[in-house]
Amino acid sequence: MVLALTALVIGMIIHSIPLSSDFDGARTSRPRSFSRLWGFYPILAVLYFFQLMLVYHGDNEVRYHPIDALVYDAKERHDAWLKWASNSSSVEIAAADYTARYKRHPPPHFDEWYAYAVEHSSRIINDFDSIHEDLLPYWSLSPAEIRQRTWDSIADPSKGIGGILIRDGKAHIAPNVPRNQRLMLDGIIKMIEQFGQWLPDMDLAFNLNNECRVAIPYEEMESARSDAVSALANEKPPSELTNAFSDGRADGWHQLPDDEHNSEHFVTLSSRSIWDEFGSVTCPPDSPARTQSLWNRRDYCASCALPHSLGAFFANSTLAADICHQPDLANLHGFYTSPNVFIGTNSLIPIFSQSKAPGFNDILYPSAWNYMDRVPYAANDEHRDPPFDDKKPTIFWRGATTEGFAAPDSTAWHGMTRQRMVHALSITSAPQTLPLPHPVAAYKRKLRYAAVPAPALRASIPLDVAVSDVVRCAEPACAAERALLAPSAEKIDFQAHWLHRYLLDADGSGFSGRFLAFLRSRCLPVKVAPLFREWWHGRVTPWLHYVPVDPRLQGLWATLAYLSGFKGVVEGKEVEWEGRGGKVGRRLAEEGRAWAEEALRGVDMEVYFFRLLLEWGRLTDDARDGVGYVPVGGGVGEAEGK
Ligand SMILES: *[C@@H]1O[C@H](CO)[C@@H](O)[C@H](O)[C@H]1NC(C)=O
Ligand SMILES: *[C@@H]1O[C@H](CO)[C@@H](O)[C@H](O)[C@H]1NC(C)=O
Repeated sequence: MVLALTALVIGMIIHSIPLSSDFDGARTSRPRSFSRLWGFYPILAVLYFFQLMLVYHGDNEVRYHPIDALVYDAKERHDAWLKWASNSSSVEIAAADYTARYKRHPPPHFDEWYAYAVEHSSRIINDFDSIHEDLLPYWSLSPAEIRQRTWDSIADPSKGIGGILIRDGKAHIAPNVPRNQRLMLDGIIKMIEQFGQWLPDMDLAFNLNNECRVAIPYEEMESARSDAVSALANEKPPSELTNAFSDGRADGWHQLPDDEHNSEHFVTLSSRSIWDEFGSVTCPPDSPARTQSLWNRRDYCASCALPHSLGAFFANSTLAADICHQPDLANLHGFYTSPNVFIGTNSLIPIFSQSKAPGFNDILYPSAWNYMDRVPYAANDEHRDPPFDDKKPTIFWRGATTEGFAAPDSTAWHGMTRQRMVHALSITSAPQTLPLPHPVAAYKRKLRYAAVPAPALRASIPLDVAVSDVVRCAEPACAAERALLAPSAEKIDFQAHWLHRYLLDADGSGFSGRFLAFLRSRCLPVKVAPLFREWWHGRVTPWLHYVPVDPRLQGLWATLAYLSGFKGVVEGKEVEWEGRGGKVGRRLAEEGRAWAEEALRGVDMEVYFFRLLLEWGRLTDDARDGVGYVPVGGGVGEAEGK
């Protein structure tokens, strides 16, 4: 308990969360103006100290619920970020912002991209940092090497990679792609059709599996990055840049072979741990991920969660995306413990994937699965999406055990997130620690951490959580999973989700295909912080658009109690708390829905993909240092100053 509280205090300090305002969702005006004062850092430090003295009275008492602080902070950060991500009112300004951020001029046809983005009211104009980060290592390769590596992977259809060839502004599926694997590529081609006329001739390698592919050992990646940074600096002066790709590019991409080609770059490691070869290998040699390889599987690893947590609660998705302080993840995600299909490479092969785990170098593009709305939010007369307050107050999840493969003689499935989530919510009886209202009337405004047995929580919090299909397993593991997790498996119509206020969500063998639909609904998604990142991760804010939960699930019950309240006997005293679902929960559900309508539409996927492929076009251009967009009127530019 003392430890948890110490962690909380440290967390508060690390995260500099302004504690002194009233976080109650209904009263946002005062905190906002108050927060302007926080520019004065020394004052802040002193005030902060006193705040902590005031806030942490007793051994395990807090003045505010940590989630109130996280919710408040998320809104402030998102608003500040959005100003900065979207304020370019002309292409000249956008180009100057680009140069300031990425230390180069934008790629050719940036003006066309800008026009497209503005015409489709893209909220984001400036911040495409994820494209920059994904592509950076590939600057260490010459265009000829990139073409060779692309050819090598798409010439071998047995590796689950499909080629798309762009010629004269039109995209085609490579002729060697098996018929039954074309569905996704069809969606990609639909997306490219919107802007293909501006793309140069090139071949692209798309990952047809869910699992990501490319992870480079730390030391090699460090040197690739430094090569890349010097390559980026080779751009010619603005007066010599052409706003067009080179001519005759088609000849650079080799014909695909008629007979079989076997790419030597890939290894197949399905149904076994890939942590050492594809997880910790991307971390610095002195990091916990590299030094604590035999992590004990039973106990909760506090040091693994602490850097990105506030007490028991998930606080920082940037830090959580660093697996290097989290050696326990080796046993906590199906992707690491026993992937269903894993065909990976430790070489820098340019592969476009829909999602990727931390440390991977796949290039993210907007999922064609989402673009084609394969799991749509489509409420209708039969399946309505009532207003938040009219929904059942339930926390709901139905799903299949798709995250990883349960091999016959392995208990790796015990560690998989979906299985653990169902186990934690429907089976375990262990006591859970959570902040609840102080039982003594005089301390009504305070919260006190208390240990509540899971059955008492279950009796108070309305849950409807079950595995509907046990899949990706071999006997006897299937039977064991079925007996424990899915005694009465029943499937539901996907559109029946909208009857419930809170929708749990977790990764499958790749990203969760349902999340965007959940976000678009009037429900509030409660998402186990995903290992897999997607194109949108920079623009969706946890604790503003959805409720995140640490993958260790240590804060799951406490988070659910925050939303739905709690009534029961704790340490011999009757406790009743209505929770914050009615206020904060409803507000976040609305924020997520509104933001999905503004910034996660099909056209937003096009805008992202368009920009990504212009960048990729330049990166694969033999004249890449001499092509780029310079605004009329010349260098508004940081570029000359370099
Ligand atoms: C955009 O916003 C950022 C941060 O608020 C500011 O530094 C920058 O000058 C703004 N740019 C324009 C063109 O308004
Ligand atoms: C997460 O941590 C990083 C690094 O310390 C920090 O820059 C960022 O502001 C933090 N974000 C949140 C939401 O706390």
